[in-house]
Amino acid sequence: MPETTRPDATRAQAACSDGSPAKSIESCREDFPILQREIRDGVPLIFLDNAASTQRPTAVIDAITECYSNFYANVHRGIHTLSEESTRRYEQARQSVARFVNAKSDHEVIFTAGTTAAINTVARSWGDTHVGQGDVILLTIAEHHANIVPWHQLAERAGCRVEFIPLREDFTIDDAAVQEHLERLRPKMFAFTAASNVIGTEFPVERWTAMARASGSAVLVDAAQVAPHRSIDVQQWDADFIAFSGHKMCGPTGIGVLHGKEQMLEAIPPFLGGGAMIARVTTSGFEPAGLPEKFEAGTPPIAEAIGLEAAIHYLDSIGMDRIVAHEHELCRRADEGLRALDGVRVIGPTSDKKQGIVSFVVDGVHAHDVAQQLDTHGIAVRAGHHCTMPLHKALGVTATSRASFYLYNNLDEADRLISAVSEVRQKFAPSGRRRRR
Ligand code: ALA
Repeated sequence: MPETTRPDATRAQAACSDGSPAKSIESCREDFPILQREIRDGVPLIFLDNAASTQRPTAVIDAITECYSNFYANVHRGIHTLSEESTRRYEQARQSVARFVNAKSDHEVIFTAGTTAAINTVARSWGDTHVGQGDVILLTIAEHHANIVPWHQLAERAGCRVEFIPLREDFTIDDAAVQEHLERLRPKMFAFTAASNVIGTEFPVERWTAMARASGSAVLVDAAQVAPHRSIDVQQWDADFIAFSGHKMCGPTGIGVLHGKEQMLEAIPPFLGGGAMIARVTTSGFEPAGLPEKFEAGTPPIAEAIGLEAAIHYLDSIGMDRIVAHEHELCRRADEGLRALDGVRVIGPTSDKKQGIVSFVVDGVHAHDVAQQLDTHGIAVRAGHHCTMPLHKALGVTATSRASFYLYNNLDEADRLISAVSEVRQKFAPSGRRRRR
């Protein structure tokens, strides 16, 4: 098992916002209205596209409706009741996020549009002031494009270069490879995902951060695929920057979090200008506001922050420990079942080394055809390169189909996936007659 910040059950239970005992994971499905839907004239929906975006429980939908129905106004600007209420609720949402990730201070929590916006902010604000000609930004080959392209863009501006740590045959990366790259390349920044959105491999954030720090590198962790699934402790991780999105954790789209260490955020300039990110503006310049407003230019995602807070309370009411355990069980079932099918290759490590993601290839059938056929069974999966072209190239495939699980999925759905994939294999590529595209 890779080293992770696995929380203890006490913390998950205690985290219930209202102090009530944790909600049962089996009953949570009823909280998601969309999961009652049937598609294609009567086929029940099996939603296995959670690594792309998750569904929302009624509690989140209601919180957003309540915001717009009862207290919405712009924040940090108005001397009137609604603006004051809205500001209070927006800042309360920030405190809830800070508690959720165990941040030292809510000033370290910056609301962004999502993980992509958070990483772009770091590449601009930190990158443009700390990186120059010949410097190295170190990534893993398992990164999503959101943690590759901003660094390529920085390379175009600053003349640095981007280097990648390769995967081993077993879809993992060992500490020795990380250490070797850190020592040989002496990067200015080591930016890596806490878990791959394709192969599901979990990486040891705390250990790699300590290694990078010892070699003098800054650290950014893309936690988009981890924050929704298990408890994270940013103080324990000790990275300089951590990014994650609301919509992958039952929250709204259009909101994400950049967590930065206070002294790091204080030391770098804002990226976007305008709105409440200033202390003073003159005809010749400006002084930025303090944290966190300094990085929240324009009207921020107000109702989205309220919705994200509701999502956090919802996840806490179930308990992150139980969510991760449940997903591991579903992942193991799907992973083992798909591996057992003739002509189906699971692309990723065994289920003990990954979280609830199973990507696979059906020999002779394009991933898009697989996804389309699964949809006729009501099963939603993602197909393609999943915004990870370099990873797919390294894996020697152009596209995969990906099933990704969340708290509201169940073993029956994992079994239906396995039998539907088996049917696709038989229908499209009977032995001896394989179709190529
Ligand atoms: N990063 C998202 C995914 O993996 C969009 O599908």
